[in-house]
Amino acid sequence: MEQWIEKIEHSRDLEELEQIRIELFGKKGYFAQEFQRLKELPDEEKPGVAKELNSAKNRLYELIQRRKDLLLAQEIQRKMAQERLDPSLYDPKEFKGALHPVTYTLDRIIEYFLALNYAIESGPLVEEDFYNFEALNLPKHHPARDMQDTFYFRDGKLLRTHTSPVQIRTMEKQTPPIRMISPGPVFRRDYDLTHTPMFHQVEGLMVDEKGEVDFSNLKYILEDFLKYMFGDVAVRFRPSFFPFTEPSAEVDISCIFCEGRGCRVCSQTGWLEVLGCGMVDPNVFKAVGYENVSGFAFGLGVERFAMLNYRIPDLRILFEGDLRLLEQFR
Ligand code: DAH
Repeated sequence: MEQWIEKIEHSRDLEELEQIRIELFGKKGYFAQEFQRLKELPDEEKPGVAKELNSAKNRLYELIQRRKDLLLAQEIQRKMAQERLDPSLYDPKEFKGALHPVTYTLDRIIEYFLALNYAIESGPLVEEDFYNFEALNLPKHHPARDMQDTFYFRDGKLLRTHTSPVQIRTMEKQTPPIRMISPGPVFRRDYDLTHTPMFHQVEGLMVDEKGEVDFSNLKYILEDFLKYMFGDVAVRFRPSFFPFTEPSAEVDISCIFCEGRGCRVCSQTGWLEVLGCGMVDPNVFKAVGYENVSGFAFGLGVERFAMLNYRIPDLRILFEGDLRLLEQFR
């Protein structure tokens, strides 16, 4: 009896316990044999032994039952511990993502102008003709509208083709002095090696009393900015045309691939065009009701900056979401 109790108490799992149960209560088990032997005893001893056997049987049966409950509970505990989800577990070798090169470039641009106390302004992506064109000195049927292949809605609204409309919205709401940049997505019907239908621009605007802001301020800031972005490059201003600025310029940096010697990327010129700028056209000030002010504006494409910075040959791969690209920018 004692040895059976011992066996039950020391069983390690349900399987072992079931084995003991069979040894005890099975057809050829311990009790079956004991009851068999009962027949051979003298009649007067039978009732006493039978009673003992029955009480031992009940006791052991109950012990097995209790042991079973315990083992079952332990089993569940063990499984729960094994399968527990630990959200703090992490593998430092696991790929954790990275900032998109365009985001990183945009952050750097913003950082520069924030340091100069420029405010960050934004405007709607679905824009009105007035803000995207008209107020920027681009009246209807002006040929320069064709420079920007526009997505139109049926009601006459459009997807903004540049961030310049934010200039207008900001000047409408505020009074000079103004110092702002406006980063954000813009949209054009274009798709090839160097154009995607959506890309990002940063617009810049500085306006103050007439005579307070002139071309030399523009030149100084943009030169300093481009050296901040691209390192020790040469910067040149080339006369150009934009409807919203007069005079206007396009700005080049010396080619960062060949250091100005001439290569395929710069079409052997030694220069790369990186932004447009100029003094705000008087017609633009007229559209927002400003008088006796002067100011400069500039606009740049963030993807172009990212491509130059990271030597990315095809603009489109920036938008394919391929993790193999992003993994390189950690
Ligand atoms: N809005 C022009 C474009 O998308 C970029 C630009 C050029 C903005 C000159 C300016 C500027 O503010 O002065 O092509």
